[in-house]
Amino acid sequence: MSTVLITGANRGLGLEFAAQYAGDGWQVIASCRSPEKAESLKRLAGENGQVKIVQIDVSDHASVDACAAQLFGQPVDVLVNNAGIASNDFAHQMLGGFDFENWENILRTNTLGPMKVSEAFLPNVKASAQKKITVVSSTVGSLTDMNEYPVYPYATSKAALNKGMRMMAEQLRNDGVSVLCLCPGHAKTDMGMMAEGASVEVTDAVLGMRNEISNLTMATSGSFRRYNGETISW
Ligand SMILES: NC(=O)c1ccc[n+]([C@@H]2O[C@H](COP(=O)([O-])OP(=O)(O)OC[C@H]3O[C@@H](n4cnc5c(N)ncnc54)[C@H](OP(=O)(O)O)[C@@H]3O)[C@@H](O)[C@H]2O)c1
Repeated sequence: MSTVLITGANRGLGLEFAAQYAGDGWQVIASCRSPEKAESLKRLAGENGQVKIVQIDVSDHASVDACAAQLFGQPVDVLVNNAGIASNDFAHQMLGGFDFENWENILRTNTLGPMKVSEAFLPNVKASAQKKITVVSSTVGSLTDMNEYPVYPYATSKAALNKGMRMMAEQLRNDGVSVLCLCPGHAKTDMGMMAEGASVEVTDAVLGMRNEISNLTMATSGSFRRYNGETISW
């Protein structure tokens, strides 16, 4: 049985990843920062014995290390770095109103979080059959695909994440570990609804991203793909 480890699995895209992988018979290690409050996830785990809930706050490296120690020796076929934050305080994310404390918090979660989680669980990924590391990034992090969402903290956090994952893809090539950056489209989650125009159903976003993960090979490692199969330019 294949195993997936998901961060931020208590709601939004992460919860849908957990539900879909569990529905397809995968063993799901669903991490979230407050398991005691994760009602929807607990319901899913109650319905499906293959879902195990663990605690990870991606911005708290001690919690990442503690979970990695707990899962020592457990192969992880697919790591889904999904946890992320944005802010609906748009004024403080735009030139002229920067809130640098908030910016640091977004970088700590969206950039350093997935880098830390990927490093901590690399032995688990290497010990698996599929050996895949993925991140839910965003087209907003593209340097060439400029769009109408001029929020510097979120955009730079995803751009830096993309660079880190692109480097990891090259470094891990000889180990047979493949790496993929994904964009879910503008999906109808709590985060997606902060900005106008969310049009992608959560189910479709996750179905599409899972399809991209399934099709990922060493030949396509280090690519940046939208949920609908399009390649995104860096
Ligand atoms: N929705 C979109 O349109 C869209 C577009 C592009 C990219 N994305 C990316 O997709 C990913 C998932 O977003 P979403 O739309 O599902 O957002 P969401 O509904 O707001 O869910 C975010 C998830 O991340 C978790 N999280 C936040 N900070 C965390 C931390 N420090 N440690 C662990 N978990 C943490 C949240 O947990 P709590 O419940 O504890 O807060 C929640 O489970 C994010 O990386 C986001 O940047 C989303």
